[in-house]
Amino acid sequence: MIGKIYGTGSYVPSFVWDNDKLSEMVETSDEWIRERTGIARRHIIEGEEEDTTYMASRAACEALKDAGIQPEEIDLIIVATISAGEIMPSSACGVQKAIGAVNAVCFDLNAACTGFLFALNTAQAYLGQGIYKTAIVVGAESLSNLVNWTDRSTCILFGDGAGAVVLKASKDGKYSQVAYSDGRKGGVLTCSSRNQKKYEKESVDAETYMQMDGGEVFKFAVSKVPEVIRELLDKENLSTKEIAYYILHQANVRIVQSVAKRLGEKMEKFPVNMGEYGNTSSASIPILLDEINKKKGFRRGSYIVLSGFGGGLTYGASLLQW
Ligand code: ACO
Repeated sequence: MIGKIYGTGSYVPSFVWDNDKLSEMVETSDEWIRERTGIARRHIIEGEEEDTTYMASRAACEALKDAGIQPEEIDLIIVATISAGEIMPSSACGVQKAIGAVNAVCFDLNAACTGFLFALNTAQAYLGQGIYKTAIVVGAESLSNLVNWTDRSTCILFGDGAGAVVLKASKDGKYSQVAYSDGRKGGVLTCSSRNQKKYEKESVDAETYMQMDGGEVFKFAVSKVPEVIRELLDKENLSTKEIAYYILHQANVRIVQSVAKRLGEKMEKFPVNMGEYGNTSSASIPILLDEINKKKGFRRGSYIVLSGFGGGLTYGASLLQW
């Protein structure tokens, strides 16, 4: 038994900051950001209502509609996030309330940018064991609250948004995963406090916002992502030729290009959308999945590899059959 994807959904705020706007805030340029990262714009939450739980609920609602499933049928809701507005109740309980999934068990999961992947693995374990039949897995982030908007080395990278999938227990199809964590290297990507809307405030305690050794994260990603994808394909006796798409965490287009090259694959199999959204951490994989599902569609039975990496450090790859 595996959890098969029956529907996808996503939500991004309509308020947008492009690179030119950021170059008014810090010493940077559109050219530098595009060349080094592939990012042109990012969507940012606005106002009181639009927060992590709101975005997660909108994405979950859309995924439910896509799946043609009623909220009462949902047994499990997991929200992967590092930026829930409140410590409790969890964002997942907020989603439950917003969509009316009265029968669901709900909790949040923190694995930074690998969060969606680890949440998907968790849901697969429940569904695979026959404990639950129907689940929603969401990745949702308001990273604009965690970013120091005076630090040009990080603020250009991130954006807000949410993506979701609905899973149903099924005897058909395949799901397989490889996942790792390396707490020894946790110091290269940190955030010690949940700050709220720093760009609207005067005082800055820089240490508490997102801190990153960009070079180290880059090296970690380009070495570990191809390694973990190869391990997954070897485990399942599949060759790269048999994979229709690789949906990678959208952090930097140069990371995606390097992974494609190291796997000997063409970029056509590696869709990217960080140009529009920046790095939305745990939301990036499900947003991209939803975009492809809605725009092009996946061929039934095709193999798709998802791969994420991020704070912790954490990383992994999952294989699913559409
Ligand atoms: N605008 C202009 N110049 C800048 C900017 C900026 N926004 N940021 C840094 N610079 C300068 C630096 O000060 C440096 O100047 P110097 O040569 O005079 O010292 C120069 O540009 C080069 O800086 P590098 O840090 O070497 O630039 P690099 O090419 O490595 O790009 C980047 C930096 C984009 C952060 C890259 O290292 C990267 O993408 N790393 C991975 C980051 C990542 O993916 N993080 C998230 C993953 S996990 C997660 O999603 C939470």
